[in-house]
Amino acid sequence: MIQLKDEYQISKIRSSCHLLSDMFDEVGPQVVEGISTYDIDRLCESFMKKHHAKGPCKGYFGYPNVTCTSVNSTVIHGIPSKKEILQEGDIISIDVCIDLDGYISDSTHTYEIGKVSEKVHQLNVETRKSLYLGIEAASKPNARIQDIAQAVSSHCRKFKYGVVKDYCGHGVGFEIHEDPEVPNYVSLANPNPRIKKGMVFAIEPMINMGTWKVEVLRDNWTVKTLDRLPSCHWEHTVAMTENGLEILTEY
Ligand code: MF3
Ligand code: CO
Repeated sequence: MIQLKDEYQISKIRSSCHLLSDMFDEVGPQVVEGISTYDIDRLCESFMKKHHAKGPCKGYFGYPNVTCTSVNSTVIHGIPSKKEILQEGDIISIDVCIDLDGYISDSTHTYEIGKVSEKVHQLNVETRKSLYLGIEAASKPNARIQDIAQAVSSHCRKFKYGVVKDYCGHGVGFEIHEDPEVPNYVSLANPNPRIKKGMVFAIEPMINMGTWKVEVLRDNWTVKTLDRLPSCHWEHTVAMTENGLEILTEY
């Protein structure tokens, strides 16, 4: 069931999302060669504490941290580790939820460490572009959820990238994962609701250099590309308001 949000609730989710955007502004410049994924998680958690917010990923189905830090061939749900030190040429997606006053935001950025290969840079640029194309598709009058998938997947097909199917965007705001699912690939088998006023959801293309296929490691969290080629991930929380679709995690 899709839980529509009223104006007051959207204003509270907006505050949570703006704080998350501020967090990326503060932590982003510190995501450089030599830092561990654990230290990135510490920076994010301190930021949340300083702003009287919480990281709802910590404890979600037993997940141990406030961020997911996914390096190179890790698609999503990489667990921060003191032993994982970023090197020049790496890419890392930092996926974070914030709970501010009971309202949840969700956003992901992929950072390049120093100079990365031209191919990897292009994967990152086009993945981010596919997120904005998805947002644009969702902004059109009478748009439906699968219009997002159509926009994301048709863009990525041009580059022969793999569009991850096993994980999707989702409704968000009261909880981390709500209805509807927001896939990045089109399927007649999937529900295709119209995007209505009051809907708040996360759009999050996960795009692979090679195959779309992924596997979960034995830690039961880390999702890797099957061919171990790199993967990028960008995510915004958006809301359909009276004035159209608003990107909440960027302002
Ligand atoms: N932020 C993730 C998402 O985009 C959810 C993280 S799963 C968790 O859907 F277990 F790490 F919390
Ligand atoms: Co999400």
